[in-house]
Amino acid sequence: MSCFPCCTSQERINKKSLKKSIKEYHEEKILASFANISVKTDSGKRNLITNELAKLGKGNITSKIFPYRELCVATQNFNPANMIGEGGFGRVYKGHLKSTNQVVAVKQLDRNGFQGNREFLVEVLILSLLHHPNLVNLVGYCAEGEHRILVYEYMINGSLEDHLLEITPDRKPLDWQTRMKIAEGAAKGLECLHEQANPPVIYRDFKASNILLDENFNPKLSDFGLAKLGPTGDKTHVSTRVMGTYGYCAPEYASTGQLTSKSDVYSFGVVFLEMITGRRVIDNARPSEEQNLVLWAQPLLRDRMKFTQMADPLLEDNYPIKSLYQALAVAAMCLQEEADTRPLISDVVTAIEFLARKKVEVDEPRHTKETSSTQDGDSSEHNESDEESDGEEDDENEDEEKDKNVEINKKE
Ligand SMILES: Nc1ncnc2c1ncn2[C@@H]1O[C@H](COP(=O)(O)OP(=O)(O)OP(=O)(O)O)[C@@H](O)[C@H]1O
Ligand SMILES: [Mg+2]
Repeated sequence: MSCFPCCTSQERINKKSLKKSIKEYHEEKILASFANISVKTDSGKRNLITNELAKLGKGNITSKIFPYRELCVATQNFNPANMIGEGGFGRVYKGHLKSTNQVVAVKQLDRNGFQGNREFLVEVLILSLLHHPNLVNLVGYCAEGEHRILVYEYMINGSLEDHLLEITPDRKPLDWQTRMKIAEGAAKGLECLHEQANPPVIYRDFKASNILLDENFNPKLSDFGLAKLGPTGDKTHVSTRVMGTYGYCAPEYASTGQLTSKSDVYSFGVVFLEMITGRRVIDNARPSEEQNLVLWAQPLLRDRMKFTQMADPLLEDNYPIKSLYQALAVAAMCLQEEADTRPLISDVVTAIEFLARKKVEVDEPRHTKETSSTQDGDSSEHNESDEESDGEEDDENEDEEKDKNVEINKKE
């Protein structure tokens, strides 16, 4: 199954319907089959992972199966010097595949770790069946004996977390336009899962460390082990054990285990707020009233005069102020307590596409300096004095007009 790269909305609609009819016949059953994956014990099916994948994938698993030996060579025996990260699944190493001269990221499942065979299977299945520019590419896997190893394309800029929340002195903070571009791509990745996959896939683990960045800061979602198939037929939600990462989970999911695609929309809102504010969702190093980002932001989001207080100080006021307002409005909609009132991710994509392109297409020069729109380019600059010289009333009217452009139209 492949999700089409984003294009114009008309093209998207045409491609969507074409894709739907092809998928209905062929692929729905394949993706649906992983809903019932149950691997009772790690040892029970230890040697059968590849057979299981072949069965569930119905011959559509095209990822390469790596011999363990080849991955040892690629990572110099999983040399700690090549380690690029560590998470709940295990350690991630940078590696080089001699056969294809390809640099890869090799994630080795920690046998004592939290995640197990089910997550391994789900990850391989989803990434083998779904292809999209904003989903990380799985090069292959190794399930030889006890080994559970995933081999991904190498994302040279690491994770969004590294550039946003764990900035080292040698790193330049992300500029506003790059933040919007990352938010747009990450939302498109979710859109592929929710609206193009059939049945829909709920990601469940949307967070800054799972958004990987390539050389141009294009984002790709990674870590699909926790993903779940969305409700089908008349069902409004799936009931499941609460998994994911504290702080990013939607309130209804955390309290009742009822999972819908709107839970991912909430998590998107949290990450988007992290991107705007540069604050971590839970930060115990801050004063107690600021430790929970969403609770800290809630009163500020109700008062437009306080919006600029929320912008990441590392932006040094270099952002178009109206973009800030609109971005915060999108974040606030995603963070609504009531799941039904949150927008669909496709509506979020529409709104953020506008913000990511805004400077080039619609910003008035008197508000921002004309500049290009990438991290290595430069940022548009928010000029406080220009803003202040505008009549507040004019500002309001202009905002209303612009807000129409980013209005989130509910499709439901
Ligand atoms: N394909 C990749 N290319 C480059 N770096 C990667 C890749 N995959 C993972 N990493 C790096 O390894 C780190 C750890 O990733 P991993 O997914 O194992 O854990 P995590 O996302 O930090 O936590 P969790 O296990 O809770 O999801 C990432 O933050 C990233 O810096
Ligand atoms: Mg991860």
